[in-house]
Amino acid sequence: MTLPTSNAYFARVAEQWDELRSGYFTEQVRDAAIAKANFPANAIVADIGAGTGFVAAGLAPRAARVLGFDASAEMLVVAQRNLAAFPNVELREAPGNRLPLPTATLDGVFANMYLHHAPDPAGAITEMARVLKPGGVLCLTDLDTHDHEWQREQMADLWLGFERDDIRRWFTEAGLSAIDVDCAEGTCNACGPEGTVEPLSIFVALGRKV
Ligand SMILES: C[S@@+](CC[C@H](N)C(=O)[O-])C[C@H]1O[C@@H](n2cnc3c(N)ncnc32)[C@H](O)[C@@H]1O
Repeated sequence: MTLPTSNAYFARVAEQWDELRSGYFTEQVRDAAIAKANFPANAIVADIGAGTGFVAAGLAPRAARVLGFDASAEMLVVAQRNLAAFPNVELREAPGNRLPLPTATLDGVFANMYLHHAPDPAGAITEMARVLKPGGVLCLTDLDTHDHEWQREQMADLWLGFERDDIRRWFTEAGLSAIDVDCAEGTCNACGPEGTVEPLSIFVALGRKV
């Protein structure tokens, strides 16, 4: 069996992603996590693995500037369209482990469902922490560990979720403090090969750059 690469998968589903995503998780999960991150009102924030702009659309009304980065040109074409009403959003194609930003430039970084596509999740967290100013906040929402092997083939997932202790350790190693990893306000409801939905739990991880 050849597993799809993340890039090939998202190129294929870009035009359907908004509909697919709305079945997986809701605005409530996003908005509760954004509220918990509590970025300052005039913040410059990044959305990593921005996809079609779901998170950026939630951040834009609350932030001074939102910089969205994604490895998929096709997803960003849809994001550009979805986010046309927000002049404070800038989108750029870039890999999450090499963000085209100087060190210590952002007040906040958010990444929803990006980490389980990252080949080196610890390195991805280090890179997100690198671009935060001292006092800046990293907020990740992603899946707790699960056993849906089919998601590797069907959704190009590299990791079947994460142990919260690993997230806490990677945040610490990346120079973050005040770490809090807790349940999100909702689940991920992907439909499996049998046509049944088995909800997966989602965590919200927060850390502040020392
Ligand atoms: C599950 S989607 C989530 C999209 C969006 N955050 C949302 O909540 O709808 C994962 C996104 O991460 C992007 N991605 C995957 N691997 C990446 C990488 N190494 N660097 C940057 N983006 C990546 C994909 O192209 C895709 O848009």
